[in-house]
Amino acid sequence: MPATLASPEAPPTPLPRRGRRRAPLSLRYVLARLLTAVTAVWAVFTLVFFSLFAAQSAATSGNLQLWSVVAVRNAGRRARLAALAGGQRHVEQAPLLLVWLADLARARRIAVERAGEAEGADYLESALVAFVDAALAAQNAALAAESLGLGTVYIGAVRNRPREVAEELGLPQHVVAVVGLVVGWADSAGGESVKPRLPQDVVLHRERYDLDVQQEQIRAYDRLLADFYANEGLGGRWSDRVAARFGSVEGLRGRHLLRKVLQERGFPLR
Ligand SMILES: Cc1cc2nc3c(=O)[nH]c(=O)nc-3n(C[C@H](O)[C@H](O)[C@H](O)COP(=O)(O)O)c2cc1C
Repeated sequence: MPATLASPEAPPTPLPRRGRRRAPLSLRYVLARLLTAVTAVWAVFTLVFFSLFAAQSAATSGNLQLWSVVAVRNAGRRARLAALAGGQRHVEQAPLLLVWLADLARARRIAVERAGEAEGADYLESALVAFVDAALAAQNAALAAESLGLGTVYIGAVRNRPREVAEELGLPQHVVAVVGLVVGWADSAGGESVKPRLPQDVVLHRERYDLDVQQEQIRAYDRLLADFYANEGLGGRWSDRVAARFGSVEGLRGRHLLRKVLQERGFPLR
């Protein structure tokens, strides 16, 4: 029998069970949840605001500060960027995406105004400086955000479709997306752990670089990471992933066109 509200004058009126029994409570519950969600989102923005000061304190080559960042909150824009980044759902689901940019536009304008031209900005070296600056700023922000309790995920896939990403973000010539950083609350349930990294002896060389000495340690790392992947429900070894990435151009997922797009976008890379 459906729930009813009976009165002596009127015939029993069926009411939806939820409406009669839980409406006031539900409303309070929904409002509380909404308030919590809105507060949580605003807390993210506030903490990111502070994290961006950390980004601005990052070392920068020659104090040139050849980077900028676009903070994307708009859900529609995040959905479009998620699609451009190979359908990565966390781009859409987290409240904020920071897109870190190599920015030669600002410096070029200053150089042209002061020196009449910006020839030095056309060189690969200048693009590299801008990419490194952007990465250092992003990592400073990521560390600061994580120290404040937020979770972050880098999104290198913003380079999969660089023309469309530039269009979506309104990037002018001489500005290109380097990497995205999704920011939200860290999953309180935990679960995913930081992957073990290569043994230090593989990456640390004493006095002179040695490639051959790394082989054995890499085999040990492969065994370690195979176990780690298996725990995460994934197969394969670390070396398999490296080979898949570099074994053929398909592993670059469209990024093999990056030089061409950079040249189109005002990075001649001379
Ligand atoms: C430059 C850069 C780009 C990355 N791009 C992506 C990405 O597009 N999507 C993603 O889920 N993770 C991305 N990551 C995260 C790495 O996959 C992750 O850091 C790596 O697998 C090691 O895992 P851990 O940091 O959780 O230990 C990126 C990381 C870096 C540094």
